[in-house]
Amino acid sequence: MSPRRIRLGIWPHLLLTAAVGIVIAMGVIGYGANRAYSRTYAQRQAHSEATNIAYLLNQVYTYEGSAGLQGALSKLAKEYRARVIVYAGNAVVLDTAPGHPPTCNQKPFQFPLATPGMPVYQVLLCLPDPNLGFLAILRALLLPGVLGLLGALAAVLLVSRRIAVPLAGLARAAQRFGEGDLTIRVPVRGPGEIADVAAEFNRMAQGLEEGQRQRQAMVADVAHELRTPLTVLRGYVEALKDGMAEPDADTLGVIHEEAVHLQKLVDDLQDLAQADAADLGLQPGPLDVTDILQSTAAGFHLQAEAKGVRIEVSAEPGVAVTADRRRIAQVIHNLVANALRYTADGGEIRLAAQALRDIVRVDVTDTGVGIAAEHLPHVFDRFYRVDPSRARETGGSGLGLTIARRIVEAHGGTMGVESAVGRGTRFWFTLPRRAPT
Ligand SMILES: Nc1ncnc2c1ncn2[C@@H]1O[C@H](COP(=O)(O)OP(=O)(O)OP(=O)(O)O)[C@@H](O)[C@H]1O
Ligand SMILES: [Mg+2]
Repeated sequence: MSPRRIRLGIWPHLLLTAAVGIVIAMGVIGYGANRAYSRTYAQRQAHSEATNIAYLLNQVYTYEGSAGLQGALSKLAKEYRARVIVYAGNAVVLDTAPGHPPTCNQKPFQFPLATPGMPVYQVLLCLPDPNLGFLAILRALLLPGVLGLLGALAAVLLVSRRIAVPLAGLARAAQRFGEGDLTIRVPVRGPGEIADVAAEFNRMAQGLEEGQRQRQAMVADVAHELRTPLTVLRGYVEALKDGMAEPDADTLGVIHEEAVHLQKLVDDLQDLAQADAADLGLQPGPLDVTDILQSTAAGFHLQAEAKGVRIEVSAEPGVAVTADRRRIAQVIHNLVANALRYTADGGEIRLAAQALRDIVRVDVTDTGVGIAAEHLPHVFDRFYRVDPSRARETGGSGLGLTIARRIVEAHGGTMGVESAVGRGTRFWFTLPRRAPT
């Protein structure tokens, strides 16, 4: 069994950090204070003490002679914890600590004792080490240190509450999210980064919930779209089976039509799934847009003639892009099929292509029924039909424009529509001249 790792919470971490900080600060302050004191104040102090002592000893020597020096020296030694040695030439005359070598912890002071008519003495004065002592300073800092630690404890508890509470909320929310509750959100609070994480969590949750909602709607839409043709098919097959209908050309025609409709629906759904997965399998190559417009117009020629609709192509020759021929033809085919479906006898459909600076723009304009303003923003939505009953008659499933726009966007282009009810509709799309790499 692997040893269990103990995970400390936020506040023990912070407290430990604060404690280490305070101890380091005490050490640095102690060392620095000691150094600064001994370098400046203590040296000045020693110098002035030495000057006083020199003055005092000279006074004593002048008024009391050598005899008075002995008493003065022992008083000084006591009062200043100093070592004083009086020399006459090289010989020691007086010493406050006889028998000990004349060493000093720091630089000794030297001055003469001179009085007219008396022998001149030299004095060596050792004052005690001005160092306060590192440990002494630390001892002095102990109480402030403990007080600081208590203050840090209070601050740490306060700060860690501000961090730990929102984090614990996030952890709980993430757990519930993982268990499938996609509606869960967290309050955006706490210090900057924690609030950022909360906001990002909410954004991610929103995206995933939206994705799930779209998937559910998609499945419901698909089921709905499949139901009608399957019901029709089932009705006819049952009628044939029960002998209620004849397997004549009409009946078989309807069955075939429904089968074709189902096939188209499944093909469209597959295109949509590929577009969703950014897997349209585009094979870009040099493409003459004018050429495609002309061949599409030719393909619809008979159908248009039967409806009494004219199709015109007005494009400069050689408007070229780099794109997937089959997919772009699919887009144009859908736009022309729509235009033809919603344009009445005597109407006109115009296909135009023009090369602009670094894009090519294609327009498919009809003089048909037009699309009301409230429907315009939705025509590119999945399964959206302005008039579902009419579209059903004409076989549309409402996926054509969704797929067309996805194909154009996959090429790095954009697609749009303008329309006026009763006057006609213009669908347009652009393609970059060079396919995005
Ligand atoms: N040129 C047009 N004039 C008027 N309405 C149009 C035109 N083109 C599209 N529409 C409206 O937009 C809807 C969506 O078009 P889309 O091509 O996506 O679907 P569809 O043609 O109904 O079906 P599909 O293309 O999948 O067979 C159509 O049902 C129709 O109501
Ligand atoms: Mg269509």
